[in-house]
Amino acid sequence: MSDIKKFLSTNLDQTLRPHTWDDYIGQERIKENLRILLTAARERGQSAEHILLYGPPGLGKTTLAHLISQTLNTNLRTTSGPAIERVGDLAAILTNLSPGDVLFIDEIHRLSKHIEEVLYPAMESGVLDIIIGKGPSARTVQLELPPFTLVAATTRVSLLSSPLRSRFSGGTFRLEFYSDTEIGYILERSARLLSMKIHTSAIHDIASRCRATPRTANYLLKRCRDMAQLEKSELNENIVFRTFELLEIDELGLTGPDRVMLNTILSKFNGGPVGLNTIAAATGEEESTISDVVEPYLIRQGLIERTPRGRIISQRAYEHLKK
Ligand code: ADE
Repeated sequence: MSDIKKFLSTNLDQTLRPHTWDDYIGQERIKENLRILLTAARERGQSAEHILLYGPPGLGKTTLAHLISQTLNTNLRTTSGPAIERVGDLAAILTNLSPGDVLFIDEIHRLSKHIEEVLYPAMESGVLDIIIGKGPSARTVQLELPPFTLVAATTRVSLLSSPLRSRFSGGTFRLEFYSDTEIGYILERSARLLSMKIHTSAIHDIASRCRATPRTANYLLKRCRDMAQLEKSELNENIVFRTFELLEIDELGLTGPDRVMLNTILSKFNGGPVGLNTIAAATGEEESTISDVVEPYLIRQGLIERTPRGRIISQRAYEHLKK
């Protein structure tokens, strides 16, 4: 796994994961939509319709899946696209569900086409068509499944086939980056749960450099806590500043791979436009890491632009790199 992926995929400490909707800060539009969808289904005594969540890593897709199953008062079964290698794996998961369960499939874009096709009738009609045997003696058996709600998550919604996308009849929701104020609330809550004293200025500084991402904010909070502990200091501005220096995170929250990408476009390709595959080859980073992990935040910061002819870096990026 690349360094930036590791940086962004540090598991959210279970103690910091919000366990109620009130504790889940931000994403207000999604919360309101889900509240209505889930409450109505529960009142009817039915399972909720299937839900697709997408957006960059660390914004709270898994946490939402937990809250959805909790609201429906059912079990959450968790798996991921790459873990389902054979049709039999999917069949085993689906036939072991209890009525009303929520099945969470993370990274659903990594399911093979073959397995996707088995999933369609399961989502739409609650049946599983399996082929038994090979050649002329092969036959199809249809298994009836318990009613379930599929909650799927992806960082790459464009890779899902349109038949799959259209089967999320409960809705498709894009998670947004968080504002500094929202991150501030999340950090205050995390500090409280970790029994830490933290200066308000330190909260502001972490909020402004965490890539607008709660998972990263909590990760940075914990690294600052380590530094404060070793220095026998309170968690103040100075501790935050030194932690960022050590982690090589600059004042826009950019890390090494972000700066490598910007510098590559600037110095090797004259600022762009340059295609994603060329950037990947020139930086040694995987294309998917660039497009799913590195780029969304750079675009949000107005540092690069995606154009039909490739990526271009902005005036703001030139000025930032000159510092
Ligand atoms: N931790 C991760 N995501 C969060 C959110 N949206 N609200 C509160 N804490 C979080």
